[in-house]
Amino acid sequence: MKKMDEAVTFRRGLTLKNRIVMAPMTTKMSFYDGVVTQDELNYYSLRTGEVGAIITAAANVQEVGKGWEGELSAASDEMIPSLSRLASAIKRNGTKAILQIFHGGRMTNSKILRGEQPVAPSAIAAEREGAETPRELMEAEIPLLIEDYRQATVRAIKAGFDGVELHGANTYLIQQFFSPHSNRRSDQWGGSVEKRAHFIELLVDRVTGAVDEYAEKGFIVGYRFSPEEYEEPGIKMADTMYLVDLLANKPLDYLHISLNDYQRVSVSKAFQEKSMLAYVHEKIAGRVPLIGVGDVRTGKQAEEVLEEAELVAVGRALLIDPHWTKKVLSGKEDTIRTVLPFEDRDELLIQNGVWGFLQGMMPERLV
Ligand SMILES: Cc1cc2nc3c(=O)[nH]c(=O)nc-3n(C[C@H](O)[C@H](O)[C@H](O)COP(=O)(O)O)c2cc1C
Repeated sequence: MKKMDEAVTFRRGLTLKNRIVMAPMTTKMSFYDGVVTQDELNYYSLRTGEVGAIITAAANVQEVGKGWEGELSAASDEMIPSLSRLASAIKRNGTKAILQIFHGGRMTNSKILRGEQPVAPSAIAAEREGAETPRELMEAEIPLLIEDYRQATVRAIKAGFDGVELHGANTYLIQQFFSPHSNRRSDQWGGSVEKRAHFIELLVDRVTGAVDEYAEKGFIVGYRFSPEEYEEPGIKMADTMYLVDLLANKPLDYLHISLNDYQRVSVSKAFQEKSMLAYVHEKIAGRVPLIGVGDVRTGKQAEEVLEEAELVAVGRALLIDPHWTKKVLSGKEDTIRTVLPFEDRDELLIQNGVWGFLQGMMPERLV
């Protein structure tokens, strides 16, 4: 069995000292223009050094891709010094720094975009209260959008990151291209599952191509995806099996599933014999490492994830206890902090926006 403290080396040569990574988590702490703040650097400093890698909060690749206030930006060259400070804060004691790059697509609004209408594959609003109808991207805009992900990747290289993760999960723009709910296009970018995957294919080719051209050996590219949507029509496990197969044949360094519970079983009847994580791992069949995630609170749970994945991502447990990794790896699990008292928020550098988010996700652990 794979052990949590075993090193792992990716296709492009980067080695992580162990198999635990900090899951990407939005901090809502950046300045209005996406520049990293000192509080945010302190937040990462508090949590680095023990995990193999930290995947940062989502950073937008285009101004119109900004999803929320306090979000990081990788949308212009002016952001390179900010990104550079972030990479240095994370890269301590052997921990590697991976920048998650993102575009909100229809999951943002004109207030956050200072009056501009959000853009998406089609002019279809998300099924959530208050969702605005986005503007459909013109065909000619789509290659430019892919170019912006490529440029954000080059900025991450220049800033000293060890890799980028393409945020293709959690209903944001990349996923919106793959989803039959948000993508109703009838051109080369929409229609069949193959056409809905076309954006992702090209994006991955352009980004990995830029890395192979500009980066020194050791800079990695990962891809994160959500396995299913509840909307009708929506992404189902059968679509995900298609996408995972396609991605596993690309020169990516890892795939990263997005789940709130690593044991979650699909809603699709044909995929209910085991967890979605297990189905995805089986489909990949060793072609590329997989990161599993979802409500891991103990070492035993992390080891269970490693039965169906090569790495395990830990999110909320590291928000509550920044030294979760050291405690788990040294057998001191009884000292892990499991609840978060309101008055400890400042010490742990958890801001209002994230506290509000946690209230929705795990009210029983906030005291
Ligand atoms: C406060 C917070 C912010 C998050 N922000 C992001 C994000 O920016 N990008 C992303 O891919 N996932 C994000 N997630 C999802 C996590 O990466 C992770 O998949 C989820 O929290 C489940 O893991 P956990 O149970 O270990 O927290 C966020 C989760 C939390 C709790």
